Amino acid sequence: MTPTVPSPAVVAGPAATDLLTLRRPDDWHLHLRDGAVMAAVLDDTARQFARAVVMPNLKPPVTTVAQAADYRERILAALQPGRVFEPLMTLYLTEATPASEIGLAARSGFVHAVKLYPAGATTNSNAGVRDLRHCDSALAALAETGMPLLVHAEVTDPAVDIFDREKVFLEQVLRPALDRHPQLRVVVEHITTAEAAAFVSQGEDRVAATLTAHHLLYNRNALFQGGLRPHMYCLPVLKREAHRQALVAAATSGSARFFLGTDSAPHARELKEHACGCAGCYTAAHALELYAEAFDQVGALSRLEGFASLAGPAFYGLPLNAGQVRLQRRPQLVPTELARGDIAVVPLRSGETLPWTLLD
Ligand code: DOR
Ligand code: ZN
Repeated sequence: MTPTVPSPAVVAGPAATDLLTLRRPDDWHLHLRDGAVMAAVLDDTARQFARAVVMPNLKPPVTTVAQAADYRERILAALQPGRVFEPLMTLYLTEATPASEIGLAARSGFVHAVKLYPAGATTNSNAGVRDLRHCDSALAALAETGMPLLVHAEVTDPAVDIFDREKVFLEQVLRPALDRHPQLRVVVEHITTAEAAAFVSQGEDRVAATLTAHHLLYNRNALFQGGLRPHMYCLPVLKREAHRQALVAAATSGSARFFLGTDSAPHARELKEHACGCAGCYTAAHALELYAEAFDQVGALSRLEGFASLAGPAFYGLPLNAGQVRLQRRPQLVPTELARGDIAVVPLRSGETLPWTLLD
């Protein structure tokens, strides 16, 4: 049975839907990078979210608990004074990941999931998995711990059309893996298709999904609006409007199987505006405003708290956050770029006005 989340978002204020108070939310899928980039972008997330699941696709990837511990320390050290933020660490699955490392991760208290990147599917995925059956002993260990496998659900076979890669992965790779490991818990990350939404909503309780703000707000036309738009390019790539509508329906359905994961992925401006531009949309600075806009467009603001603050902790078996955040329906201009030190990233909706503003 699909568990449902109640919709207790407190809607109050001058006009009923102009001020939205939510329990403090979490981001269940985030790229922070490392070093100067991490230091530059971290506060955008820590301002809005109490916790974030931090992706391990660094160079070199975070494949061991010891590396995850060091990475976590670097994140905590980069927090601005007074910020309370908990990075939820992940391990990068390889075909050489031993079952013992999964056990160590589960006992660590700070590693909360293992991430599957099909080799070649996306940024820094070369060390990822070529054949998931080669990971069966690690997956069996993972199933025993109850920690979820976070899946970048795309096949990399160049013969498969890029717009079909998610659907084919679900059928040819994920379904068999779930059948081989009946206790394995899975989060299908950043789903982009109606097929993925159906796979999750019609499947078992052990399978959930994250949804990005950009896949809720945009279809693939946005990549070519008046010219080539590198800042709209991410992986999995934006799909047709019918898919976007299916994702919005899933996110706003009240099902606790769908929760917030921005997949905010900083790349320097010059690496996006490039002959071979990097994949990733930078949404961390305005994430809640963007999700509020997507939910508001279909009259579902009362469902935002379940999606942003309740469903994720329930799936991960973590406590709900204390405290609240407030969003006001008040226009906000998005800067054309976010420049800090040597790093400049172009945020999604750069130079445009958002209808919602997060109040500090
Ligand atoms: O667009 C993306 N960017 N998709 C991913 O899967 C990875 C991410 C990144 O790390 O840049
Ligand atoms: Zn990602």
